[in-house]
Amino acid sequence: MSISDYISGRYSVRAYKKMPVERVVLEKVLNLALSSPSWGNTQPWEFAVAGGAKLEEIRNSYVESAKAGVSASPDFPFPDFWPEKNKNHYFENGKKLYKLLDIKREDKAARDNFQLRGTEFFQAPQVIFLFLDQELSPWSLFDLGIFAQSLMLAAYGFGLGTCPMAMAGVYPDLVREAMGIPSSKKLALGIPIGYIDESDKINSYRSTRILLEDAILKWDDLG
Ligand SMILES: Cc1cc2nc3c(=O)[nH]c(=O)nc-3n(C[C@H](O)[C@H](O)[C@H](O)COP(=O)(O)O)c2cc1C
Repeated sequence: MSISDYISGRYSVRAYKKMPVERVVLEKVLNLALSSPSWGNTQPWEFAVAGGAKLEEIRNSYVESAKAGVSASPDFPFPDFWPEKNKNHYFENGKKLYKLLDIKREDKAARDNFQLRGTEFFQAPQVIFLFLDQELSPWSLFDLGIFAQSLMLAAYGFGLGTCPMAMAGVYPDLVREAMGIPSSKKLALGIPIGYIDESDKINSYRSTRILLEDAILKWDDLG
């Protein structure tokens, strides 16, 4: 596979096979991600990898909290506003995904059920939780995003699926408590990782992208 295949082929995987990823493969993926660039090579990323009984513990506590209606309290607050054009992409994406899954807008039970799949980290056998120390600036979040993309591309190269998930950070205290991580480490993203369940319809979904000319503000003097 070429670099183009990796970048264009990766997609968010939302159903996984039960088989866990071998530790040696996880280490290779994480080691590759460590070669990501960062501000002044500060390398702010820290992570916790949960699998087996520990992940079940976290998964169960997430589901219990969600079912009990506990409010999300992400360390990095979710946006409550999107400019019009971004909001349109956001809604369009959700609408297409729901259509594929045959979930009607008015069917609250089906929508709740889908949300629950996210709360369960899409039943991935392992989840990589990405943290930043509380002393870091917002710029380090930029670095962590690059790290996340490297990790997902590396995983894809090993035939693995991933999904960057803000939702995996809705109850950061539960993750810290289960994994013994101090409160000074702020949870930014959870990335489920595992072998792709191709038989699940959800994994046939592919999001779309804007055109080059829609992203370019100015393209000048290129000859
Ligand atoms: C920071 C970030 C947070 C995300 N959070 C979630 C999430 O909580 N649940 C989910 O299903 N997908 C989540 N996604 C995945 C996006 O929906 C997905 O990347 C986007 O629709 C593009 O699709 P693709 O990844 O398949 O190319 C997130 C992506 C990013 C970058």
